[in-house]
Amino acid sequence: MEARAKINLTLEVFDRRADGYHDLRSLVVPISLADEVILRPAKEVTLRVTEAVSGVADQIGPTADNLAVKAAQLMRRVSGRTDGVAIDLVKRIPIGSGLGGGSADAAAVLHGLNDFWHLDISDEELANLSMELGSDVPAQTLGGLTLMEGRGERVTRESMPGLVLHLVLAFPGEFVSTAKVYANVIPQLTNGGQIVDNMRRALLGGDAEAVAAALYNGLSSAAEALCPAITRARAALRTAGALGVSMSGSGSCVFGLARDAADAQRVAKNLAGIGLTAFPVHTCPVM
Ligand code: C5P
Repeated sequence: MEARAKINLTLEVFDRRADGYHDLRSLVVPISLADEVILRPAKEVTLRVTEAVSGVADQIGPTADNLAVKAAQLMRRVSGRTDGVAIDLVKRIPIGSGLGGGSADAAAVLHGLNDFWHLDISDEELANLSMELGSDVPAQTLGGLTLMEGRGERVTRESMPGLVLHLVLAFPGEFVSTAKVYANVIPQLTNGGQIVDNMRRALLGGDAEAVAAALYNGLSSAAEALCPAITRARAALRTAGALGVSMSGSGSCVFGLARDAADAQRVAKNLAGIGLTAFPVHTCPVM
């Protein structure tokens, strides 16, 4: 089963809440870069990680902290089952890049066990249950183009025809701590919904250039102040011919929009020429 990474087409950050988290509003969309999750019946919950992209598995933390394992334990608790599952994870999504790799794995386990154990839990209910696993998990559990609000606990699937966007992911080669980025952020004062509306209009119009102009990430300045390599990767994407550039989540991965698949290949090749790791991918806006 595929566990798709995500990018944030828009990400607005509002005030810090009493629980220490910031309120957000973000349009999230899955992309074609994916881990593979294989589930097999087992007595206990176990995890085996192999890497499809060199270096990714090395960054995986202890099994008990793994979101896929926590997702399996959550499903065990919810269903009242006493057996477990053997989880095989083939990692391709870089860790700590803002692409929601761990959340994608968790979402895949939730859906997988829902089917495997015939639990018949709706996507909306699964998304609600998944909030305890992390802020990005509900949006990735719901899947497709999704509006995420609050800390991530309020998720709504966008009811619009899905424009497939071609883009290039670029990795600055350095990581930033999510907590540090949020600690440095200057929250947005207005909350009028214009940023999301602009993006919705651009997506409906089906025009990659308009989408490029509507990209927004309120964490960018804070992340770039901590990690200048992000600024350099953004500039490199622009020079390589991207229509518009933004960062995903709290970074450090940045992405550039391309006109079509061939253009994305060309931009990625230009970046590889200057030593940046870059992948051409596309969005998967519909479940
Ligand atoms: O979601 P995660 O636990 O990875 O976030 C790490 C830290 O980033 C949180 O402890 C919090 O300080 C900050 N954060 C935030 N608002 C969010 C998400 C994360 O302030 N919506």
